[in-house]
Amino acid sequence: MAFKERVFSGVQPTGNLHLGNYLGAITKFVALQERYDCIYCVVDLHAITVWQDPSELPRSTREVTAAFLACGIDAKKQIIFNQSQVAEHAELAWVFNCVARMGWLNRMTQFKEKAGKDRENASVGLYVYPNLMAADILVYRATHVPVGEDQKQHLELSRDIAQKFNNDFAQSIHAHGYGEAFFPLPEPLIQGPATRVMSLRDGTKKMSKSEPSDYSRINLTDDADAIAQKIRKAKTDPEPLPSEEKGLEPRPEADNLVGIYAALKGSSKADVLREFGGGQFSTFKTALADLAVAKLGPIGAEMKKLMQDPVYIDSVLADGSERAQTLAAETMKAVKDIVGFVRR
Ligand code: AMP
Ligand code: TRP
Repeated sequence: MAFKERVFSGVQPTGNLHLGNYLGAITKFVALQERYDCIYCVVDLHAITVWQDPSELPRSTREVTAAFLACGIDAKKQIIFNQSQVAEHAELAWVFNCVARMGWLNRMTQFKEKAGKDRENASVGLYVYPNLMAADILVYRATHVPVGEDQKQHLELSRDIAQKFNNDFAQSIHAHGYGEAFFPLPEPLIQGPATRVMSLRDGTKKMSKSEPSDYSRINLTDDADAIAQKIRKAKTDPEPLPSEEKGLEPRPEADNLVGIYAALKGSSKADVLREFGGGQFSTFKTALADLAVAKLGPIGAEMKKLMQDPVYIDSVLADGSERAQTLAAETMKAVKDIVGFVRR
């Protein structure tokens, strides 16, 4: 069966939105709105799988919303909202808790990384987090999901859940007039030169919100001086830049900076090396800093402006939540019939 094409993605409100979030996810969100109906969610239910200070969480939620708006997502044409305002996410996640298998979740590398050695002490929510992510996507029966490389495994799990639901309930799906399959198998959109932006301090580690050193990342709210300084101090090696992409392979820090430049410029690594290959890092870093400031400066400034008007941001989220809920409620009604729940 052909499903209506729809884009869904989410970003956690856990502080410090950075260049990885911007290049890996948010720029893609912006581009996709030209071709698709899009739903972009601030996933606060996901955030609390690790402790969040209740006095900080509202600000973080508004900041991600401000970033969506500042980057150019149209809140009137598309849907921007926060997850906890649409209870259907948690409701469908429960059904998926009963569809997904322990063995599937045991393979999730992000849980292993986040829980670390002290697994006994991780929240149960952190363990079943991928089921909630599948519910986020499938409660809108979304078909396309733009994410960074780190979410690939979770997307595969979402597909497995959709497939198993379709199989387990095949007869009931058919009997209720939904044809062969109720859920689409959502496709990950992971493309371009910066699907995995690395730390500026260590080219083998992902740029992340939770890394203690602020020099490891460029935050969307950093001012021009901070951006330039962080790029100047970014780790490199003593060799000049190679002229061909192959020369980047054993050099993770060089590869990362070239990838960032290409993504910010909307070109490819090969193009960047054609321009800067053979040259010193200092020249390249100056050009990269100028480009980063030109691209990110206006976004940071707009975010700060928006953050001064929380009433406006909350109204965007309330309006988006209402529209999202209309769609989600329709799916849940069908899911209840398919599973066999008696409903009003
Ligand atoms: P999170 O901050 O974990 O909610 O991530 C939000 C989005 O940004 C997801 O699509 C991630 O895959 C993406 N993302 C996070 N960190 C990076 C990174 N270092 N490079 C590329 N994409 C990233
Ligand atoms: N797990 C994603 C992350 O940490 C965020 C997320 C939650 C998400 N639900 C989603 C992304 C649904 C895409 C689709 O980055």
